[in-house]
Amino acid sequence: MPVEQATVPVLDRGFIFGDGVYEVIPVYSKRAFRLPEHLKRLQSSLDGIRLDNPYNDHEWTSLVDELIQRNAVDDQYLYLHITRGVAKRDHAFPRPPVSPTIFMMSSPLLQPPTELLISGISAVTATDNRWLRCDIKSISLLPNVLLRQQAVDADCAETILIRDDNFMTEGAASNIFVVKNGILLAPPKNNLMLPGITYDVILEIAAANHIPFQVRKINQSEIFNADELLLTSSTKEVLPITKVNGTPVGKGKPGQMFTRLHTLYQNFKRDVMRKP
Ligand code: PDD
Repeated sequence: MPVEQATVPVLDRGFIFGDGVYEVIPVYSKRAFRLPEHLKRLQSSLDGIRLDNPYNDHEWTSLVDELIQRNAVDDQYLYLHITRGVAKRDHAFPRPPVSPTIFMMSSPLLQPPTELLISGISAVTATDNRWLRCDIKSISLLPNVLLRQQAVDADCAETILIRDDNFMTEGAASNIFVVKNGILLAPPKNNLMLPGITYDVILEIAAANHIPFQVRKINQSEIFNADELLLTSSTKEVLPITKVNGTPVGKGKPGQMFTRLHTLYQNFKRDVMRKP
């Protein structure tokens, strides 16, 4: 149905408590990209909030395929959202359990505008004041919303998050990589960041193309001394960050690592993602 016609009861626990999880899945040429990996992350988010998965992978795959086919455009982004369902307001889980609310929508997936690839985007840094389970793709996104708005208020595109006044975790809605002396640096996956599917793709592309990389804790000072900073997400793919807190990153324009990874990512999309 048209998304404007879809409704949810006001007592849905997603609406009342933000009690749910979600996924964002890119679709290229009507093929869901890395669906098994997205479904695996969905399962660990559901496990993290102690909610049974309403479908097995086979059932999810046919629902996803049906939604893709019902939409005309070839490149889509799918949003998938599960809450603990509708129940009388009480913080504890409903007993007996109620049916979960399941919502899926598809929108056209738009490529980031070319000027962003040429000029790069600007970011600000902020204290990562979220909870200690940022590995769960929770619909309770108020901290991310407030953090991302700090970037928008400063005419920037993303907020880079610093935990404990010390190390970088991720962006408000993306993963962040640092480049120094030709080495790609990625923060280690743990409970303080979302394990990005695009993050994995970038590290796989780096490994396959002999691009040196290290997965290790990244100190906040390394952001300000970086040669390059990169942002990744399912909807933005890979983007260069060329300014942080008003100061140019490295030479202040997209660098060699970005150009190389972006080209490899586009080739990967053409040769792997779009092919049956
Ligand atoms: N966000 N970290 C956070 C906090 C995110 O919200 C996202 C993605 C990522 C990147 O993950 P992936 O590569 O799997 O998209 C990292 C999605 C796009 C969103 O909320 O719209």
